[in-house]
Amino acid sequence: MELQNIIINKNNNLREALQLLDKNGLGTLFVVNDLNILIGVLTDGDVRRFLLRDVNLKVKVEILMNREFTSLSINTDNAKIIECLNDKIKYIPLLDEDGVIVDYASINRLRRISICSPLLEGNELLYLTECVKTNWISSQGKYVRLFEKKFKDYHEGFEALAVSNGTVALHLALEALGISEGDEVIVPNLTFAASINAVIYTGATPVLVDVEQDSFNIDVSKIEELITSKTKAIMPVHLYGQSCDMDAVVAIAKKHNLFIVEDCAEALGSLFKGRPVGVFGDAATFSFFGNKTITTGEGGMVLFKDSKIAHKASVLRDHGMSKEKRYWHDYVGFNYRLTNLQASVGVAQFERLEYFVQAKRNLAATYNETLNKYDFFQTPIEKEGTFNSYWLYTFLIKDNAPFSREDLMNYLSKKGIESRPVFYPLHVMPPYKGYGNKEYLETSTLISKSGVSLPSSVNLSEVEANYICNSISNFIKEL
Ligand SMILES: Cc1ncc(COP(=O)(O)O)c(C=O)c1O
Repeated sequence: MELQNIIINKNNNLREALQLLDKNGLGTLFVVNDLNILIGVLTDGDVRRFLLRDVNLKVKVEILMNREFTSLSINTDNAKIIECLNDKIKYIPLLDEDGVIVDYASINRLRRISICSPLLEGNELLYLTECVKTNWISSQGKYVRLFEKKFKDYHEGFEALAVSNGTVALHLALEALGISEGDEVIVPNLTFAASINAVIYTGATPVLVDVEQDSFNIDVSKIEELITSKTKAIMPVHLYGQSCDMDAVVAIAKKHNLFIVEDCAEALGSLFKGRPVGVFGDAATFSFFGNKTITTGEGGMVLFKDSKIAHKASVLRDHGMSKEKRYWHDYVGFNYRLTNLQASVGVAQFERLEYFVQAKRNLAATYNETLNKYDFFQTPIEKEGTFNSYWLYTFLIKDNAPFSREDLMNYLSKKGIESRPVFYPLHVMPPYKGYGNKEYLETSTLISKSGVSLPSSVNLSEVEANYICNSISNFIKEL
């Protein structure tokens, strides 16, 4: 229930109060003065008792309201809120320092700030409804083509193919480039496992390389020592929104005649030297999973520099079936298509990309301000020449901190704030042991042990961001 549907001004009359009670269905209204300061509560029961005495719908709310009520500060944690809720008090107004209502709590509306939730308030419903009304719901449909066109235009004319998710985008990119058994592909040791899995699907061998401590991205100074006669490609992953050093990756790839497949799943909207990530290699991939910067629920996109390879990929995406001869299969292909329904949401989301990225950058600035007050944290950076889209705000807890990562995460969890640890380094997990030498993978191990991600939803309010920052400050004060 929207906050505005539960708040009424003291000068409104009973008829207006009844209309609002009817609309919100909660049986409660919070009464405010002209400064929006909470001065009373009006319940169904109060109204009933009054009407039994006197049927007068013009009486002012101020006369009827209860002046004794329970309210809590917006900074109250879940434990305290639960303590105050009971059979009588089902809704509690949450106030800022001036007594202004900024939120309310109920048993179904406890403070739980999720790590990254989508914002679908643009044209999503409109476009989706159009798909349903016109019956265009499969992968044939104008929104798929429009979504691809938008990506193409944004990415310097690279051919764009919409696919079912970011993982198959990677697989399709590698297959279309001809990566197969006997080849080696260089992959950073710190990434979501889909990056390495896609290499393994092709039959090629992943070769794990360590990452840089400041950017968390592939350590370009360590790539060349891993190149062999079998190496066919490098897969830089722009982790958490920070772009890799693409000048260095491109130079190495050129020198050794290697393909570059950029994994941009976490970096739509990020720039390297003013250009969008995804345009520096032969192919690039994106994910539109529910927690990504733009989402289609599940979904992905793959970009190709070479239109012939893009054509091969589009055939592979559509069962390997010839474009000219129906039911004639040129390859053992896949069904990796995105539906028009998903693409319609994607188009609406893409329309708001700039706003989403700016919201994430503002949030990162707020978090940085708080965390940089202490010497215990390594906050995320924006390397020179890069533009960080801060998909997921992620920082490290330094060795000198008098608390563990788990202490901080548990504290935040009790305050209703979700946080996430950084990925495990790939080489320690059973399927990937043997693809990397542990002596050379120390930095990814260190980042994995000490990294934490904070809520990074684009619709996180200022009040919520401040609540998270205050919770971190209080955690340190209470040590
Ligand atoms: C770096 C990276 N690569 C690939 C993927 C796979 O994308 P999807 O979940 O859409 O398959 C993800 C995310 O989920 C990711 O973070």
